Amino acid sequence: MDRHSSAPHGVRDLVVVGGGIIGLAVAWRALEAGLSVTVLDPDPGDGSTHAAAGMLAPATEAEFTEDAALHLHLAGAARWLPFAADLEAAAGRGVGLRESGTLTLGYDETDVALLRRVLALHGRHGVASEELTIAEARRREPLLGQRVRGAAWVPGDHAVDPRAVHAALWRVVAAHSRGAVVPRAAVRLEQQDGRVVGAVDDTGDRHRAGSTVVAAGWASAPLLAEVPGVAVPVRPVKGLTLRLQADPELAPRHVVRGLVQGRPVYVVGREPATEGPWAGHCELVIGATSEENPDDRRAPAGGVFALLRDARALLPAIDEAALVEATPRARPSTPDNLPLVGATHVPGLHLATGHYRNGILLAPLTAEVVVAGLTRSWFAVDVATTDPPAVLAALRATDPRRFPPRAPDPRTPDGAPR
Ligand code: GLY
Repeated sequence: MDRHSSAPHGVRDLVVVGGGIIGLAVAWRALEAGLSVTVLDPDPGDGSTHAAAGMLAPATEAEFTEDAALHLHLAGAARWLPFAADLEAAAGRGVGLRESGTLTLGYDETDVALLRRVLALHGRHGVASEELTIAEARRREPLLGQRVRGAAWVPGDHAVDPRAVHAALWRVVAAHSRGAVVPRAAVRLEQQDGRVVGAVDDTGDRHRAGSTVVAAGWASAPLLAEVPGVAVPVRPVKGLTLRLQADPELAPRHVVRGLVQGRPVYVVGREPATEGPWAGHCELVIGATSEENPDDRRAPAGGVFALLRDARALLPAIDEAALVEATPRARPSTPDNLPLVGATHVPGLHLATGHYRNGILLAPLTAEVVVAGLTRSWFAVDVATTDPPAVLAALRATDPRRFPPRAPDPRTPDGAPR
């Protein structure tokens, strides 16, 4: 569709609050749909996008009892190949998509028992995966640690470089004649006659728009606390990733993840860099810790130690790599581990947040759903989509309206706590 902006002068079709991978993906797809778009973020891409390793891992991130999430994540993964091709063509730069598959490992017998239960879960949902002998695993990944007891191959779980994706999205959004990225923080949403009509930034400037998408990760919750009629139960869950630079001969060929005495760890490798101080080296991202803590931007020494200890139990050659970065950031989590995607009960207000561990994986699908809602084509998408019923049910499970807004406190006349 190429619909031209119908907004009055000075008023945009869309304001997106948050310039991480989700916000910029929404902005880009909205520009492609013909809307005029302003993105507000004081430091675009410096939230969880900056820490993310970039696994596109519906199978190896699958959780027992979370069937809707699994179907959502499979649909998200299916969007990535065309999204990456489109974005690379539009931006004229790569996004580091590696269709390498994932080797998943169990360090001790208890870890292997859980790995087999996960393989059975894949089998029940028709997701491709197979147990390997250690010799077969070593053929795929010769640098495997000597003490690893079990292995499986998951051919459909890949990885992308989130920082490269973000840089490409920034380029296409900022360069677009109808796009703008404003490096200011939204401090509140503008409301008028029960509608959200834009956002006010930290200099007091008003950014008026027909629609507003809040894609500010865990910070979406405090921003929307004052908007009646909407509930955004998004909380920060802190994680830490490490970045290392390795000689290509010492870098894994696939995404490697595993359980080490019950602790999950993953290692994502990139292609060798062609420029910069680490030209000829491969970036490795090791992740990730997970704690119910705020985004304090502190890298705990114990977390750095634990990640290195567990990663080198799977891939001892990590000892030879250079540790160049420890990146603590908080993921935006929700009570049911599903994101909030689409229109709210409040006219003009849409959400794209709460993606927890799968913000990179779900960015293309989220952008598609949000823009369908913005351009009023949602019902056409709903009926005409080629997605199977389980995916449509999973998409409906991300409806932000599933959380009822908090009722005013009846103990005081104005609802304020005493
Ligand atoms: N997606 C992996 C993580 O959140 O650590």
